[in-house]
Amino acid sequence: MQKRKIRERIYWLGAVDWDRRLFDSLIPLPDGTTYNAYLVQGSEKVVLLDTVDPPMTEELMAQLNGVDKIDFIVSHHAEQDHSGAIPRVLERFPEAKVVVTPKAKGMLIDLLNIPQNSFVTVEDGETLSLGDKTLKFIHTPWVHWPETMVTYMEEDHILFSCDFYGSHIATADLFVMDQGRVHEAAKRYFAEIMMPFRHVITRNIEKLKAYDIQMIAPSHGQIYDRPGWIMDAYRDWVMGSPHNLVVLPFVSMHGSTRKMVDHLVSSLVEHGVRVELFNLAVTDIGKLAMALVDAATVVVGVPTVLAGPHPLAAYATLLTNALRPKAKFLSIIGSYGWGGKTVETLAGMIPNLKVEVLEPVLCKGLPSETDYNALDKLASAIAEKHKELGFY
Ligand code: FEO
Repeated sequence: MQKRKIRERIYWLGAVDWDRRLFDSLIPLPDGTTYNAYLVQGSEKVVLLDTVDPPMTEELMAQLNGVDKIDFIVSHHAEQDHSGAIPRVLERFPEAKVVVTPKAKGMLIDLLNIPQNSFVTVEDGETLSLGDKTLKFIHTPWVHWPETMVTYMEEDHILFSCDFYGSHIATADLFVMDQGRVHEAAKRYFAEIMMPFRHVITRNIEKLKAYDIQMIAPSHGQIYDRPGWIMDAYRDWVMGSPHNLVVLPFVSMHGSTRKMVDHLVSSLVEHGVRVELFNLAVTDIGKLAMALVDAATVVVGVPTVLAGPHPLAAYATLLTNALRPKAKFLSIIGSYGWGGKTVETLAGMIPNLKVEVLEPVLCKGLPSETDYNALDKLASAIAEKHKELGFY
C-alpha cells in the first residue's frame, strides 16, 4: 500500500495485515488488522507518529522513500506492533529523536535496545511546534500499558490515539465506511484489550473532553472522520451501567450440563432476561469477551472432570477474571459424576470480580426435577437482582 493523504501534509503510512488471525498468541483476529503510522510535514519539522509491527517494516520504509528528513518519531506506546520498526527508521534517519513519555523511554530501551541519546521525553500537556502545526502530548496511562500517551494536533483537531479507539480490521478503506462493522470490531478490541483498565480509562476519557476532536486517527483500523459515535460508544462501554443480560459460557461432556443450561436459558427468557450462550468447545473467545462488556450476570456452565472444573470452563473463568467486566452477579451450574471441588476451584479464580455469587446449582448425573426447580429459582433470583438494577 502507498502512503495516503488524509489532510494537507498529513499522511497515513503503515501496513494492512490481511492474513493475521491471532494477536499475542491469544486474541482471535477474524478480520486481520492494520498497523497505522502517520507522517506530518510541518513548515519546519517533519514527524512520524508510530511505526509498524516488525514483519511489516520494509513496507513502511518503502513509503518513506522520497521523505528527505524526519525530525521526530513520536512513540505513543512501546508495544512492538507500533514501535517495532523504530530502530530501522532511526538507521535511515539517524538525526531523528524519539518522542516518548518518561516511562516509555525505559520500556523502549528494554524492548528494542534503542540508545538513550535518541530520546526526547515529554511531560503531560507539553507541545511541540512543527512550524505551522502544533502537537500536544497528552499522557493517557493504561490505555493499555502504563506508558501510553496520545497526540492532539491543535490546528487540524486530529487526535492520534494509538490503541485507544482502535479496531482490528484489515481493509483498504482509509476512513470508516461501514459504521456497524467498525462498531463491532472496536467493541471486540475494547473487550479484549481495554476493559481490564476501565477505571483508569474513565479518567482519560474525561481528560479528552477538553479538546475539540474532529478526527481520530488510531493505530489499528480505520480513521474516524466523524468520531462522535465511537467516543459515545466508549463512554457506554467504560462507564455505562451493565445491561439486562446474562452471559453463559458453558461446556458439556455427555449432555447433562447442556440440559441444565438449556433449562436455565428458557427460564431466564420467561423472566424477561436476555441471555447470550457460548459453547466453549467451539466458541470464538473474542465474542465471549464482547458480550462481557454489557453483562450484568455471568453464569458458568461446567461439568466436573478429574474432581475439578472442566479445563475449558476454568480457562473462560480465568479470562473473565482477567478482563474485569462490570458484571455484578455470578453463578455456577453443572453436573458431576461422583464428586469434586468444582465450585470451590472456580470461586477461587475470580478475585478481580466485584460480584455477588448467587447460589450455584450442581447436580449428580442427569438433572432431576429438583435440579430444574433449583435452576428456576436461580433464574428468578437473577431476574430479581436485575430488577434492583432498574431494568424493569
Ligand atoms: Fe496495538 Fe498495545 O499495541
